[in-house]
Amino acid sequence: MAVRTLMGAAFGLLLAGTASAETVKVGIIGPFSGPFALQGKNFQAGVEAYMAANGKQAKGHDVEIIYKDLPAANPQASRALAQELIVKDKVQYLGGVYFTPDALAITPLLKQANAPLVIFNAATSAIMTQSPLVVRTSFTTAQTTTPLGKVAVDRGIKKVITTVSDYGPGVDAENAFKKAFEAAGGQVVESIRMPLNTTDFSPIMQRVKDSGAEAVFSFLPSGPTTLGYVKAYNDTGLKQAGIKFLAPGDLTQESDLPALGDGALGLLTSFHYAVSHDSPENKKFVEGATKAIGGADQLSFPSVGAYDGMHVIYKMIEATDGKQDAEKAVNAVKGLSWTSPRGPVSIDPETRHVTQNIYLREVAKGQDGKTYNKEIQTFPNQKDPGLAPAGQ
Ligand code: PHB
Repeated sequence: MAVRTLMGAAFGLLLAGTASAETVKVGIIGPFSGPFALQGKNFQAGVEAYMAANGKQAKGHDVEIIYKDLPAANPQASRALAQELIVKDKVQYLGGVYFTPDALAITPLLKQANAPLVIFNAATSAIMTQSPLVVRTSFTTAQTTTPLGKVAVDRGIKKVITTVSDYGPGVDAENAFKKAFEAAGGQVVESIRMPLNTTDFSPIMQRVKDSGAEAVFSFLPSGPTTLGYVKAYNDTGLKQAGIKFLAPGDLTQESDLPALGDGALGLLTSFHYAVSHDSPENKKFVEGATKAIGGADQLSFPSVGAYDGMHVIYKMIEATDGKQDAEKAVNAVKGLSWTSPRGPVSIDPETRHVTQNIYLREVAKGQDGKTYNKEIQTFPNQKDPGLAPAGQ
C-alpha cells in the first residue's frame, strides 16, 4: 500500500512537470453522401492514411476527427455545420470543404471561434483573402490552369473556346487560361459560362463546334458533372472533328477514368497531383489511401489535399502544444515545407496557399491495360498566380 502511494505520488509529480495531454478535436466538412460522396470518401481516405502512417497523437495529444456531411454546395448548411462543430463539439480546427461557396460561408466565423480552417479542396483564389486564419493544401484553378496557356500555343493551337462552370473556380480558370494563352499569342474566340447544375451538355458541344475554335478549354468541379461533360465531348463528335481538349485535371480524375474508357485516351490536362506520380512518398501514400478507401480505382486528388491538410494540422497542434490559439497555429505553418505525395510543397507565408509543382499530363494506357494520367512535363514551384501581389 505504502509503495503504491509512493508510486502514485511520483507519477503525479511527473505529470505536473509536463503540460497535460489534451484531446484536440478536428471537424471535417465534406460531401460524404450524395452524388459527390466519392470526393468526400477521398477526404476521409487521406485523413485515415495520414493518421495510420503518423499515429493518432500529435506531440502527445490525442487527435479526434469529427466528420460532418455536406452533400452539395450549400453555404447556409455549411455555416450551420461549422457553427455546430465550434459550439457543440468544441473543435479547435476546421478542415475539409469541397466547394468554394461552402468555404466562403465559413471564413467569417473563424476569428471569433479562434479556429483555423485548413482547406482540403475549395479552389477559388480569393477565399484566402477572406480571413487570415485560412490555410490551403489543395490548389487553385488559376494555379493548375496557367501553364496550359503556353502549352496550347506550343502545340500549334491558335484559337480556343472556353467553357466553365459559372462560379468562383470556373471564372478563375477562364481568366487564368485566357491571360496565359493570349500572352503566348493565342486568341480566345468565345467564353461560355455554364450553370453549376447543367447536366445536358450537347447544346454546349454544338456551340463549341460552331465557334471555329481548334480547341476547347473547360473547367467543371470533379464528380458526376465532369464525367458527364467529358462523355459528351467524346460522344458528340468533337473529338472526331479534331477539336482538341484542354483542361485542369479535375476533368480526368482517376476515379472517372474506368467509366470514360478508351475515349479518354490523349486528353491533355494540367494538375498538381496524379495517382500515378512516381515517387517513394506517393507509393506509400497510394498504398495507405487505397487501403483506407477500401478498393482500387477510387482514389483521386481530394485524398492528397486531405493528407497534406492533416500534416499542416499536426504541425499546428505541435506548435500550440494542444492549446487553442488559432493565430499561433497559423503563424507556425507559414513557410512550412515538406515532401508531399505530389512532390515538394510549401505554404507561402504571404498567401497561406500551397506552392507546388504543376504537371502536364496525358491520358495514356498502362501495361495493365488501364488508362491513367501520365505526367509528361513539370512546371516547378508554382505559386497561385490568382493571389500574386498587384502588378505581377
Ligand atoms: C470548388 O468549388 O472550389 C471546386 C470543387 C471541385 C473541383 C475544383 C474546385 O474539382
